[in-house]
Amino acid sequence: MDIREGLTFDDVLLVPKHSNITTRSQTNLQTKLSRNISLNIPIISANMDTVTESPMAVAMAREGGIGIIHRFLTISEQVTEVLKVKRSGSILIENPYTIGPNQTVREAIEYMREKGVSGLLVTDPQGTLVGILTRRDIVMLEPADEKKQVKEVMTRDVIAARSGVGVQEAKDLLRKNCIEKLPLLDERGNVKGLITSKDIINAGNYPHASKDKKGRPLVGAAVGVKGDFMERTEALLDAGTDVIVVDIAHGHSDNALNTIRLIKKAFPNCELIAGNVATACGAEDLIKAGVDAIKVGVGSGSICITRVITGSGVPQLTAVVDCAQIGKKYDVPIISDGGVRNSGDATKALAAGASTVMVGSLLGGTDESPGSYVMKNGKRYKIYRGMASFYAALGRKTKETGTAAMSEDLNDYVAEGVEAMVPYKGTVVDIVKQLTGGIRSGLSYCGANTIPQMQQNAEFIKMSTAGYAESQPHDVELM
Ligand code: XMP
Repeated sequence: MDIREGLTFDDVLLVPKHSNITTRSQTNLQTKLSRNISLNIPIISANMDTVTESPMAVAMAREGGIGIIHRFLTISEQVTEVLKVKRSGSILIENPYTIGPNQTVREAIEYMREKGVSGLLVTDPQGTLVGILTRRDIVMLEPADEKKQVKEVMTRDVIAARSGVGVQEAKDLLRKNCIEKLPLLDERGNVKGLITSKDIINAGNYPHASKDKKGRPLVGAAVGVKGDFMERTEALLDAGTDVIVVDIAHGHSDNALNTIRLIKKAFPNCELIAGNVATACGAEDLIKAGVDAIKVGVGSGSICITRVITGSGVPQLTAVVDCAQIGKKYDVPIISDGGVRNSGDATKALAAGASTVMVGSLLGGTDESPGSYVMKNGKRYKIYRGMASFYAALGRKTKETGTAAMSEDLNDYVAEGVEAMVPYKGTVVDIVKQLTGGIRSGLSYCGANTIPQMQQNAEFIKMSTAGYAESQPHDVELM
């Protein structure tokens, strides 16, 4: 048997090349996420329940990347997460949330909380605007007032504009009237949209944000290969999801291939990513089934034990190199998923042929990752767990059955991931900036201004154990 050598990030370095770049800002990190979607930075937050829900996806899109909402939610919960992202950064909200004047203030508060908004337009059954309910109207209410009807506390004299108003005119109206929300109405007074001051400010604050054709933040969402995946895909696409990710640990399987074919047949315009695979043959089969990008990585993630449990996997750098050759042949981008611990790893994955990197643990433990903090020895942590870990599976079972699942319910379950804690890291924005800063420097060491140029210039050199040791801080006492 011929046994090939498989390499990963710590086995290699990129050989420095002549560079004419004088500052990192001369580099351009634009890249392709999939056949038809581009990003301004090559970073994707992983579709994991301890990494990506709407707050993470909003932050990623603002920085120029994208977040993939995980699939371990009901269809309606997942759709709500997508809508929160879409609404977060568009200047014009096309279908603002509304409430009836006869509903109670308590219902309104719950609805606002569920949708993550700070105000509701009040409309009659014909859709005509009759008022607006914002934080200002409810902030001073007593608990007993929550029984009141919305019409008793709402603001009635609403300043509105005609649908189709220009951004500058909208800005002027918001400023002149010292208001935060400007409903847009048709000639009959029916609600056609909403412009908010927060969204206008945000649009200016995030000039590199990744956006769809309507100027809204890009967002992806994952689906599985069993059960409700077709219904889920349809609902996610209807909500405006830009890219669907078929998420299965062993992507080179009939289950994955059939799912891709079914989705592409029913929704030919759906931008589809699938994975995970780790071989050229796996990548080619996914491409032939119709995918628009391939997620590469089997057992490479920080919380993965797939290689320990099954003995299967390919060291990540080799997996990327092999799949990227096929990706190049068919012009289908490769996503390197798992094992990125720092900007050096990300740069190596990109230089090896990936167009983007998917990151889990690096982004876990941030303000934007789901889950609450835990304290250990006086330090703050957040839970970060593999989606095939025992407790993730237990959580899913509980959701499915509606009652608390017990360990015995999963007697046959073989976990391929672990539960872990990652130190609390503050906002993800700082992490992304460190990552992109490092990648930009990496480009310049390769004598490249862009990721495709780096891929052309890249020359890897294999390291000895001594070379690896030399690459780390050594012979000093770290502070
Ligand atoms: P990092 O290294 O960024 O990896 O934390 C994130 C990626 O790990 C994968 N993943 C798993 N792999 N068992 C696995 O073998 C699991 O339970 C598991 N959960 C996540 C996934 O590809 C993710 O993007």
